[in-house]
Amino acid sequence: MSAIQDQVRRRRTFAIISHPDAGKTTLTEKLLLFSGAIQIAGSVKARKASRHATSDWMEIEKQRGISVASSVMQMEYRDCVINLLDTPGHQDFSEDTYRVLTAVDAALMVIDAANGVEPQTRRLLQVCRARNTPILTFVNKMDREVQEPLALMDEIERELGMGVVPFTWPVGMAKFFGGVLDLRKAQMRVFSPGEDKRHDDDEIIDGLANPLLAQRFGAAYEQAAGEIELVQEAAPAFDEAAFLAGRQTPMFFGSAINNFGVKEVLDALVDLAPPPGDKPAIQRTVGATEPKFSGVVFKIQANMDPAHRDRIAFVRVASGHFTRGMRLKVTRSGKEMRPNTVVTFLSQRRELLEEAYAGDIIGLPNHGVLQLGDTLTEGEPLQFTGLPFFAPEMFRSVEVADPLKTKQLRAGLTQLGEEGAIQVFRPVAGSVLLLGAVGQLQFEVVAHRLEHEYGCKARITSARYNVARWVTCDDAKELQRFIDGNAHRVAMDAVDAPCVLLEYAGELRAMQDNWPKIQFHALREHA
Ligand code: G4P
Repeated sequence: MSAIQDQVRRRRTFAIISHPDAGKTTLTEKLLLFSGAIQIAGSVKARKASRHATSDWMEIEKQRGISVASSVMQMEYRDCVINLLDTPGHQDFSEDTYRVLTAVDAALMVIDAANGVEPQTRRLLQVCRARNTPILTFVNKMDREVQEPLALMDEIERELGMGVVPFTWPVGMAKFFGGVLDLRKAQMRVFSPGEDKRHDDDEIIDGLANPLLAQRFGAAYEQAAGEIELVQEAAPAFDEAAFLAGRQTPMFFGSAINNFGVKEVLDALVDLAPPPGDKPAIQRTVGATEPKFSGVVFKIQANMDPAHRDRIAFVRVASGHFTRGMRLKVTRSGKEMRPNTVVTFLSQRRELLEEAYAGDIIGLPNHGVLQLGDTLTEGEPLQFTGLPFFAPEMFRSVEVADPLKTKQLRAGLTQLGEEGAIQVFRPVAGSVLLLGAVGQLQFEVVAHRLEHEYGCKARITSARYNVARWVTCDDAKELQRFIDGNAHRVAMDAVDAPCVLLEYAGELRAMQDNWPKIQFHALREHA
C-alpha cells in the first residue's frame, strides 16, 4: 500500500446534523475529549455559536473569528484521523451548512430523545439523502423523561424514510435509566451519571440474558428485552451497502452530557463510516488516492481583522498530498498560488499545518483569489461539481445612503457575495442591486458588515420578488432571446449566471410553458 493509500484509508470526515439544543456542542466536546484532542470539557462549549445571537452583532463578530479555529476539528482515534466539520447552528445560515455537508463523507445525526425528529434535522438530512451520505444516529438525553425507544425508532424511520438498525438499546429512562444493551457485543453498559468520568469507568455486564440484569434493573430490563425481541424480528439486519448508500442508519442511545454512549459513536465512525472516496469533476472522476493534489473550496470566511480584507478559504482535499508551499493552480481563473501560511484548526496533530491528505481540510488565507466552488490542482484543469447555491427565497434592494460610497458598496457586496454570505444580483435593466437570501438574518449580517468592514451604510428595502431560478439553454441564441424578452426581471449573479426573478410561483409555471427550450434551476452547482 502506498503512503497516500495508507493515509486515505485512515481518514474519516464527518459533520454533526441536529436541531438546535439536541446536544451537538456537548457531543462534539465529548468526542474531542475521548479522542484526547482536548483535555478539559468546556473548551468547545465556551466557543459555542450562540443560538441567541439573532440580533446581537457583537456576538456574530466574535463568533466569526472564534469559529475559524473550531470550524474544523481534527482528532486521532485508534489508528484513524477524524475530521469533524462544524455547521452553523442558526437555520438562516443553512446555505452555509449545506455547503459544509458537501465536504463530508458521513454525518452523525443527533436526536433529542424527548423531541424526536425536529425540523432542522429533517432539512439537513434531506441534503445528506440527496447526496447518499451515510448517516449514523445518536439518540441523546436518555437521562431525561423521553419518548419510548420503539416510538422514536418508528418516527425516525417514517420521517426520514430510512431503515434504522439499533446497535444499542436503552434500559429505562430518566431517573430509571440503567444503561444500554449493546446488541452486537451482547453486553450491558451500566449508566452512571457524571460529566467527569471516563468511558472506561462504565460497569459492563456480559450477556443480554444475564439473570443479573433482571435482578438489578427489574421492569426496565424486562421491557427492554421484550422490545429488543420485537425489533430483532421486525428490523432488517445491518447491511453495510445500504448504510453506505444512505438508506440505513445504525442507531445508538446515550447521554452526551454524562459521557455515556459517546465512545460507541467514535468506534462506529472508525468501523463503519467510509474513508474518502472518488469525487466527480466535470472532466473526469478523481480518485482519493491519486498522487497529485486536488481540492475544492467549500466555505469562505472573512478574517477577524476588518482592516485587512483577507479571508480564509476552506479547502477539502480530494486527492494527493498537500504540503505547505506547494504550487497550486485555480482552475477557474488559471491563477497560481503558493500557500505558505495555512490556518490552524483545532487539532492534536502539528503536521496539519504542514501536510494533508484526502478528507482533510486546509484553510488558505487569500485576498479574493479563491471563491466558493473553486478547484485547486497541481496544474491539471479540473473543476469539481456539486457545491450547491440555492435559489434565494427572500429578496431586498440595496442602495447606499451616501452616493459617494457607491464604490465601497459594490466592493463590499462583491466580496460578501463571493464569501457566500449573501447572493448579489445585478438586474439586466436598472442599476439598483438586489440581494437574495435564504434567511432574514443574512440581510442583517450583510448590512452590519457593510457598515463596519466597508464603511458604507446601506439602505436595504423590500423588493417585490419571491422566486428565483437560474436559466440555461443549450441554444445560446434562444437564451439571449429569453434574456432580452424578460430584461425587466432577469439579473446576473456573482458569476454572471443569468437568473430570472419572479413574484409568484404561478408566473414561473406560465414562463416554463412559454419558453419550452429554457431550463429553470432552483440549484446552481458550481461557478
Ligand atoms: P446544541 O449544540 O445542539 O444546540 O446543544 P448543546 O450541546 O448546547 O445542548 C443543549 C442543552 O442540552 C444544554 O443545556 C446541554 O447541557 C443539554 N444536554 C446535552 N446533552 C445532554 C444529555 O445527555 N442529557 C441532558 N439532560 N442534557 C443534555 P443548556 O441548559 O441549554 O445549556 P448549559 O446551561 O448546560 O450550557
